Amino acid sequence: MDASDVGADLKEVLIPASRLQERVAELAAEIDADYAECDLLLVGVLKGAVMIMADLARAMRLPVEMDWMAVSSYGSGTKSSGVVRILKDLDADISGRHVLIVEDIVDSGLTLSWLVGNLRSRQPASLRLCVLLRKPGAARMDVDVAYTGFDIANEFVVGYGLDYAERYRNLPFIGTLAPHVYGGDQAPAPGGPPDQAGAGPEGLERPGERAGEHPGNTISDGER
Ligand code: IMP
Ligand code: MG
Repeated sequence: MDASDVGADLKEVLIPASRLQERVAELAAEIDADYAECDLLLVGVLKGAVMIMADLARAMRLPVEMDWMAVSSYGSGTKSSGVVRILKDLDADISGRHVLIVEDIVDSGLTLSWLVGNLRSRQPASLRLCVLLRKPGAARMDVDVAYTGFDIANEFVVGYGLDYAERYRNLPFIGTLAPHVYGGDQAPAPGGPPDQAGAGPEGLERPGERAGEHPGNTISDGER
C-alpha cells in the first residue's frame, strides 16, 4: 500500500519509508551494542508496534525472542484514566530476563507508564523502552524512553502500524490525514480525534501544543 492507494485521504507524508528504515537500522545497531552480552526479549505492544517490531528485529544482529502484549486504556468518554486493561498478556515469564518494550508511539505516556509498572512488578533483570515516535506530551510523564525513533509535533499520525479507526496501518510511511477522513472540515484535535474508538486508547484527550524541537531526530519541515 502506498500514497497513491489512499488518494485524497492523505494530507502529508511526515516521515518517508526510506527515512523510517534508516532510523530503524540505527536503533537496531544501538540496541545490538547495548545488549551484546544479554539474552534479550523484545515485547511488542499490539497492534501498533507490529511494523516497528518486525523491522527492528530483522535489522538486529543479536538473536532475540519476541513476545506480544495487547492493552487497552479504560476511558471515561474522552479522558484516559491511565488505568489499563490487559487484552493479551505475555506468553513468557519475564522474571530475571532483559526486556525491551517496543511501542509505536508515546503520547500522554499513560499507557507506557502503566505498562512499565506492570512489567517491573514481574521482576525482570532489566526493563527499557524503545518507541518509534514521541509526542511532546510524553515529556510531562515519568516515562524514560531509552530508544526514540523520532520526536514529532502534537498531531495525529497514521501509517507504519499506526491507525485511524483501524485503517492506514499498512502505509509504509508516517503521515497525516485530510480533514474529510475525520468526517468534518476540521482536522482532529492534536493527539487524536475525540471519541474515536480505535484512534487511540478510547480517544484520549490531549493538550494542543506543538512539539518542542529536540535535536537529532525531530522531524523538521524540510524532511516532511
Ligand atoms: P498514551 O497513553 O497517550 O501515550 O497513548 C499511546 C497510544 O495512543 C498509542 O499506543 C496509540 O495507540 C495511540 N495514539 C496516540 N497518538 C496517536 C497518533 O497520532 N496516531 C495513532 N495512534 C495514536
Ligand atoms: Mg500502541
